[in-house]
Amino acid sequence: MTTKIGRNDPCWCNSGRKYKICHQAFDERIASYAAQGHIVPTHDIIKNAEQVAKIKESCKVNIAVLDYIEKNIHEGMNTAEIDRIVYDMTTDMGGIPAPLNYEGYPFSVCTSVNDQVCHGFPSEKVILKQGDIINVDCSTILDGYFSDSSRMFAIGEISPEKKKLVEVTKECVELGLKEVKPWGFLGDMGQAVHDHAFANGYTVVREIGGHGVGLKFHEEPWVGYNSRRGHEMLLVPGMIFTIEPMVNMGKVDIYVDDENDWEVYTADGKPSAQWEIMVLVTEDGAEVLCW
Ligand code: MF3
Ligand code: CO
Repeated sequence: MTTKIGRNDPCWCNSGRKYKICHQAFDERIASYAAQGHIVPTHDIIKNAEQVAKIKESCKVNIAVLDYIEKNIHEGMNTAEIDRIVYDMTTDMGGIPAPLNYEGYPFSVCTSVNDQVCHGFPSEKVILKQGDIINVDCSTILDGYFSDSSRMFAIGEISPEKKKLVEVTKECVELGLKEVKPWGFLGDMGQAVHDHAFANGYTVVREIGGHGVGLKFHEEPWVGYNSRRGHEMLLVPGMIFTIEPMVNMGKVDIYVDDENDWEVYTADGKPSAQWEIMVLVTEDGAEVLCW
């Protein structure tokens, strides 16, 4: 990495401090990793304190919406009702549902039931029934700042197999989170997620991953889970990204509904689960901003 900032110039992070006492040593440390061949973050994905504060406000809306759904989701409800709740609550709180019209996505939320892996369309025809598992994936834009998280819900009594899938997938995210720290690597997280899923006989979807988030819906880096410890992007304070593995009970293969080009299903028809959190890399570890 090269920089044209003078030592006495204002720092690129907008702190108002001189570069030499702000991010110069930080940049040099990153450059030493780059020199060793590592993938390193660019300045545009490193958030300053002001941006983090704004992103946290956006997260508050996302969390409130998911909390409400958690309390009110029930057997007999259709998923179009969830879409309505997400739209109404988000806009009432001054936000915009980020999925709405995103690359042509026609709804405010993704509701993925059973063998739907992700991007499930809310529909009046999808009526939640006892034994279903559903991922509700919410994303908010507030004052131009983005948040994104998702949770799994069980409708009534679910099978022990589905219960285990949902629990193990949550554990995957928690184990991945433990690996997030400054001057570690994204692959430390990815391998932890993958190993736990694999140890339980599950597979982790390869084609769709997490992402940097905050100033845009989807930023660098792309966050996969078929990665290895010590590899992928260097993690530094101020980075924000999602951990959102899609874990399949059966085979890893997926397909996209060719009628709408959005909805993703497992090829073998077995269930898939996903939890999504948004994580900030801090000076001494990680902070979960949204879940
Ligand atoms: N919320 C999803 C994610 O985690 C994105 C959904 S794509 C959309 O990245 F188009 F539906 F918004
Ligand atoms: Co996401």
